[in-house]
Amino acid sequence: MSLSLIARSIGASATLKLNETFSILKAKGEPVIHLGGGEPKSKAPIDAITAISSHLNSGEVRYAPVDGSIDMKKAIIRYTRENYNRKVEPEHVIASSGAKQALMVALQAILDPQDEVIFPTPYWVSYPEMVKLCGAIPIPVTPEDGTFTPRLKDIEQNYTSYTKAIIINSPNNPSGAVYPESFIRDIVKFAEEKSLYLIMDDIYHKLVFGNTDMPNPYDYVTDFSENSKLIIINGVSKAYAMTGFRIGWAVANKNLIEVMANIQGHQTSGTSILLQKAAIGAINGVQTSVESLRTTLENNRKVLVQQIKAFEGLHLIEPKGTFYAFVDFSSYDKDSTRLSNFLLEKVRVLTMPGVEFGMEGYLRLSYCGSIKDIIEGIERIKWALDPNSPNELYIGERKLVRDWN
Ligand SMILES: Cc1ncc(COP(=O)(O)O)c(C=O)c1O
Repeated sequence: MSLSLIARSIGASATLKLNETFSILKAKGEPVIHLGGGEPKSKAPIDAITAISSHLNSGEVRYAPVDGSIDMKKAIIRYTRENYNRKVEPEHVIASSGAKQALMVALQAILDPQDEVIFPTPYWVSYPEMVKLCGAIPIPVTPEDGTFTPRLKDIEQNYTSYTKAIIINSPNNPSGAVYPESFIRDIVKFAEEKSLYLIMDDIYHKLVFGNTDMPNPYDYVTDFSENSKLIIINGVSKAYAMTGFRIGWAVANKNLIEVMANIQGHQTSGTSILLQKAAIGAINGVQTSVESLRTTLENNRKVLVQQIKAFEGLHLIEPKGTFYAFVDFSSYDKDSTRLSNFLLEKVRVLTMPGVEFGMEGYLRLSYCGSIKDIIEGIERIKWALDPNSPNELYIGERKLVRDWN
């Protein structure tokens, strides 16, 4: 089979693949616990459901404008004003099939082959592959001080004449780190100074805990003209628990949005009008579900952090947002894929290998599921890894016997 060079360089999404494995095991009746999930378990807001149902009942489900319906754009404009204190016009926004497509189309609109795109490690699994899909080169940058918080000098050291863009994802998947105001200020200034595109993947920005502040990049922008290279990515997937609705968006300068719409027009056309109706319902409707999800996640985080702290040999930098914790398991196994496979095979707990996020020795554990699953999942992992554990463990009726050291 002859495949393109680019196609051959693209790996499957590890997270989606493991989700599939989970579904298969679950369907077979295996007592598997998903600590690798990437979506909240709550229901979509009632306003989303009402809005989509009434449009569906009309029986008229037609093509939508490529860059989003007028009402969708109005909802995004409102969201941007309320959350970023920034007034934008309809020509500054595009709705896409998830934040994923908004990101992909933005990258396709700005990258030429051999361009370089910098992003901090650990990173969301799709960034390197998306950059490669454009024929460009991903440049992951690991903070040198061993934290999950990048510093400007880490980025500066990797800047070359080929650098075209920087992607920043805070709160971060997989670490849950919220980058400090000083870094956001520095990176906005640096990108403006070097005339780089700055893509802020803000998909988790409403899911932050305690008194953590979410810095607003617009506070540091000096160029508000149509030459601005700031791109804000967002969507309803995480905060509104609407992952399956596939609505995300980008806010950027008018020229770029026009080019992104041209590209999207040949890929998928406008994202489904039904799903846009649901997203509009969620954004314009009552916001209590977001706060209730945030509180639930904050509580789940507390439980997970307690469990990890009581687990000798693990190291965790406490997440400040999202629903992920990136835990250092290297004292047990430095090969995260091997460890993740081992845990799935032996105790039926699904975790995401850190190497997929650019850091070996770590596992990403999600706390978007139930507290029962978090507690039992960690207990099973502990039983599997701690050589001092009793020889047997019961999962329901099933007896597991340690036949490894
Ligand atoms: C950092 C990050 N960006 C973007 C996305 C994609 O979001 P969506 O489901 O809206 O495409 C995800 C989903 O996991 C993510 O974690």
